[in-house]
Amino acid sequence: MNTVRDNDTKATQQDAAALRATMVEQLRAQGELRTDAVIRAFATVPREAFAPEAPLEKVYDRDDVVITKRDENGLALSSVSAPRIQAMMLEQADIQPGMRVLEIGSGGYNAALIAELVGPDGEVTTVDIDPFVVDRAERYLAEAGYPQVRVLLVDAEGGVPEHAPFDRIIVTAGAADIPPAWTEQLAEDGVLVVPLRMRGLTRSVALVREDGHLVSRGYQLCGFVSMQGSGANAERLVLLRGEDIALRLDGGQTADGEALSAALTSPRVVRPSGVEVGGFEPFDELDLFLATALDDFGLLVATPAGIESGLVERSTRMGAKTTLVGGSFAYRASRATSEERTSFEFMVYGHGPDAETVADRYVEVIREWDRAHRGGPGARIEVFPAGTPDAEIGEGRLIDKKHTRVLISWPASS
Ligand SMILES: C[S@@+](CC[C@H](N)C(=O)[O-])C[C@H]1O[C@@H](n2cnc3c(N)ncnc32)[C@H](O)[C@@H]1O
Repeated sequence: MNTVRDNDTKATQQDAAALRATMVEQLRAQGELRTDAVIRAFATVPREAFAPEAPLEKVYDRDDVVITKRDENGLALSSVSAPRIQAMMLEQADIQPGMRVLEIGSGGYNAALIAELVGPDGEVTTVDIDPFVVDRAERYLAEAGYPQVRVLLVDAEGGVPEHAPFDRIIVTAGAADIPPAWTEQLAEDGVLVVPLRMRGLTRSVALVREDGHLVSRGYQLCGFVSMQGSGANAERLVLLRGEDIALRLDGGQTADGEALSAALTSPRVVRPSGVEVGGFEPFDELDLFLATALDDFGLLVATPAGIESGLVERSTRMGAKTTLVGGSFAYRASRATSEERTSFEFMVYGHGPDAETVADRYVEVIREWDRAHRGGPGARIEVFPAGTPDAEIGEGRLIDKKHTRVLISWPASS
């Protein structure tokens, strides 16, 4: 009996090793894994040990998350993040041997990768707000050979002062803000990598200190489960057609739901932008530019039933980037410009009494991005403490949060 089980275990380990090698190759091919140390960590840590509930193929899919906990409505509360997101963030973090690293949001796997990167002279602390996650992360880390990782049950809003300062802080839950504790507990030349939510869009931003505030040295598109606890994301849904079509806004924003509902069912205007993209060209940079340039900005979201109603385009399934002006709004979708569907033109749809003006302004912004920023260095994101006077902050889109003032600006491409 035992021999059969031993053979099964051996086969599973061989399968896992082969899948791990393939995953690493894929992450390298896509440019998500770049540096030798991070590649070695991914090739070493047995990811399956941290997600024993999932089939091996899923565990080693470079683009797949393993959800480990959901709330009563099925919303994901915790997961082992997708390998490509973990690779991208660890590359952003530039972790060196001997460093002290804080991971916010545990799962075990990412902490084990960090433990590989810091080596025996480093120190890894991972914290989670959920006892279920802490318990399993602690157990799996010990079983996989990483008992040195410190796993703590903590609401990360206050950080972990007793083990600070940290050379790197990596946040692995979607953050609406940057609480003072994170900045205070970051070493002077430290790096904070955080999936920061700005006007409904989340980017993993690598931040360093510069002249008394934090400045981005790069950012990447990403998606994360939301932060819970005292820093939980305050989001608002303005329902436009029951729960089937709604506007998702940041906490502090207001909108005239009644007027916008009426606008939704009024005849719309359609504006071709004249700006085309290739089928595989990412346009998350355009979205961030829109969120910077357009005054009132949110996401128009629709369920399949909402899309079936014919009132909104399919782009609303994932959240269409939308500008609001009083009782009017406009959003972006695209239409194929080749039969093979390898190129697309951005289209703008306007609704409401000022539909034409709002849609025209939106088109102008798309053209400005195309002319001045497409393929350029991207945005500069700066984080100032709340209360910093305007006069000490440069030009750009200023987003006021509870603890911080976030400035997004777009240096001209050279
Ligand atoms: C995507 S999971 C973390 C994934 C993990 N880093 C891994 O190894 O893949 C996000 C985690 O953040 C945790 N979390 C959410 N809000 C938190 C808070 N305020 N403090 C600490 N942890 C929090 C959740 O419980 C969840 O387990």
